[in-house]
Amino acid sequence: MSHIALERLRALEARARLGGGLERIEQQHARGKYTARERLELLLDPGSFYEVDALAHRDEDEVVGDSVVTGWGRIEGRLVYVYAQDFTVLGGSVGLVHGRKICKIMDLALRNGAPLVGLNDSGGARIQEGVDALAAYGDIFYRNTLASGVIPQISVILGPCAGGAVYSPAITDFTFMVRGTSYMFITGPEVVRAVTREEVTFEALGGAEVHARKSGIAHFVCPDEQSVFREVRRLLSFLPSNNAEDPPRRDPSDRPDRLAPELDSMAPESPERAYDMRAVIRAIVDDGDFMEVHADFAPNLLVGFARLAGRPIGIVAQQPDILAGVLDIDASDKGARFIRFCDCFNIPLVTLADTPGFLPGTVQEHGGIIRHGAKMIFAYAEATVPKIAVITRKAYGGAYIVMSSKHLGTDVNLAWPGAEIAVMGPEGAVSVLYRKELSSAEDAEARRAELTADYRQRFANPYVAARRGYLDAVIVPRETRPRLIAALETLEGKRVWRPAKKHGNLPV
Ligand code: HXC
Repeated sequence: MSHIALERLRALEARARLGGGLERIEQQHARGKYTARERLELLLDPGSFYEVDALAHRDEDEVVGDSVVTGWGRIEGRLVYVYAQDFTVLGGSVGLVHGRKICKIMDLALRNGAPLVGLNDSGGARIQEGVDALAAYGDIFYRNTLASGVIPQISVILGPCAGGAVYSPAITDFTFMVRGTSYMFITGPEVVRAVTREEVTFEALGGAEVHARKSGIAHFVCPDEQSVFREVRRLLSFLPSNNAEDPPRRDPSDRPDRLAPELDSMAPESPERAYDMRAVIRAIVDDGDFMEVHADFAPNLLVGFARLAGRPIGIVAQQPDILAGVLDIDASDKGARFIRFCDCFNIPLVTLADTPGFLPGTVQEHGGIIRHGAKMIFAYAEATVPKIAVITRKAYGGAYIVMSSKHLGTDVNLAWPGAEIAVMGPEGAVSVLYRKELSSAEDAEARRAELTADYRQRFANPYVAARRGYLDAVIVPRETRPRLIAALETLEGKRVWRPAKKHGNLPV
């Protein structure tokens, strides 16, 4: 090889590495943001990144590599495909070359069965490229959809993500945002002002907090870029590389037969008193390690990943500490999406139920709680992964059915001795059943208390369900962990028959 040929290659590589130039790199740093290449170094195992299409560009005088860095690398030794938009080049905007580079990486990820992690920091469609830019987005969305349920797709938002660009992250499985530097919206504050006269800041319109708490677009929010990459790596540790693999197991570091005596007194006897279901989860799972998804959105329902005897599981649980753990619109959406993700990727589901039921009222009814709640039923019934449920206290009405009941095809149903399972809570039931008697009773309050106690004794307990076989066992709370682990072991070879179809029609 001639010296000149090598020089030429080195010169091109150097141009590519410089992206939009030193000045723009400094601007990026001044904003508290890393460059695309620095981000990939933080995300991937050291020295594992192999770049693809480093020399792609449209015209001779354009930046070599265009405004995105793509390639593959390793996370904990496992293959992942990555792209990182480079804001120093034309604001990371998406044109023909940028789009083609991402699509090539997506095709490779899908073909080779490895997760895709996209680092987004872009001004959106490159205005000067017109319809080529729109085509690039369309090509990406198409691939996001084809890859859905085949490989895990993770979007990390590290700067602007505006216009139709938001729909790629929205189709992917998980979206991470960084507080203060990332934002997502369909139309920015200026357009909002022009169209609706509403004054709103970038942060209030589409910042990380808004999407974590209100819209549910962000599954995870991190204080800075360093921590966001740590969390992406942690999330991937629970996930298989594709839908044909089982999630990665670890040697259990926590004894499978460990009892948790604190659980015996965790659910208070008084049905009105709250408790923290996170503490229950931590007591059950390996090393108390629970990676919560959507922690700030619909916090009356908890979802997230953990391990039992080294094996990843997905947990869905009510949080009695917030709104008594009712099921509402947002909780239903949150739960259904998570259940479907776990089912796509062979992650067994463990449900911990304690809910008084669906939240009543016009806000919920007019907002469509019927179709949103239906998503939970659909997702649980459709899921063929091992399903285990424990009723820790209340399971009333429709919520009893929804929360992974035997009737939705759950494999193992357990309950703690204080569980209350009935059509409705004692107070409501007594009001309906004894309305006439109570309206004419001399000492209505005393009679009501008597009837309520009787109802609780006769119906609001786990034994009617256990008698019918709707529960497989009533267990001592401290034994929950070993019972779940033993049940999971029996379900390793689970096979389920389903009628052939193209796909179901999830209520949306
Ligand atoms: C071309 C763009 C660009 C774009 C930014 N740049 N966005 N170039 N197309 N979409 C360029 C800027 O001209 C500038 O170049 C450089 O990137 C850095 O941008 P700044 O504006 O200096 O940075 P900042 O002040 O941080 O503002 C960032 C920004 C702003 C908020 C993202 O650039 C912006 O509002 N851009 C337009 C956003 C937008 O409306 N995009 C289209 C959305 S619609 P120079 O050389 O001047 O420094 C869309 C449709 C997708 O994306 C459809 C998919 C279906």
